[in-house]
Amino acid sequence: MSAASGEGRGSDAWSAANYAQNARFVSDLGAPVLALLDPRPGEDILDLGCGDGVLSLRLVEAGARVVGVDASVDMVAAARARGIDARLADGHALEFERAFDGVFSNAALHWMTRPDAVIAGVARALRPGGRFVAEFGGAGNVAAIRTAIISVLLHDHGIETTLDDIWYFPTEGEHRARLEAGGFEVEEIALIPRPTPVSAGIEAWLATLAAPALGLLPAARRAAAAARIGALLAPALRDREGNWRADYVRLRFRARLR
Ligand code: BEZ
Repeated sequence: MSAASGEGRGSDAWSAANYAQNARFVSDLGAPVLALLDPRPGEDILDLGCGDGVLSLRLVEAGARVVGVDASVDMVAAARARGIDARLADGHALEFERAFDGVFSNAALHWMTRPDAVIAGVARALRPGGRFVAEFGGAGNVAAIRTAIISVLLHDHGIETTLDDIWYFPTEGEHRARLEAGGFEVEEIALIPRPTPVSAGIEAWLATLAAPALGLLPAARRAAAAARIGALLAPALRDREGNWRADYVRLRFRARLR
């Protein structure tokens, strides 16, 4: 996963150890987007938002030459510890020029809230005919979670926000239009509802993956807010046995640079 982004996931609220403990499912569920990329031996692949490098390593094992970028110092260090050529970079300002056969991204693009800048950087980074293959949160992603966060921030803390400046969750139509305007031909794009088990529980999910949203509150108020959000979500996302399932919707696409 992870954000080579920027602003949303931003800075270094991101602890690789915390992520490994509470969000390992993110890379565990990366098989379909890896299959859509279909990396070949000798290809140059950029992993945009490489996080701790677990999926970058799968690309290396497929024989690709891989560069990973991420906005988090801690994630870049964790990816390097796996032997990945990982670099600190903002996904909105990629500096590569015609260097890659493919750009791959899993669970990172929703942190990059200026998608046209990202698409322009990916287009520059690819060789002619290169492919951009990614999966991230699409329209309706974590809708219940997002609504509960917005509600608690507003009603308990007087903070009015849509969270649109933290997460980008587009429809297929919106993202297709952006890719086409950026010089890509979209070969496939689909929204895929994927309710996702969260074995660590919703409060751990919130602390790890909604850190920028809870970060709108003073540190001393975040745990109580997470408990309140969890209580609101339980009827929708927790089963009778106490298992949590997050209401994920993925947007998965393959696009080719014209
Ligand atoms: C996601 O992977 O869909 C996601 C991760 C963190 C926050 C919101 C969504």
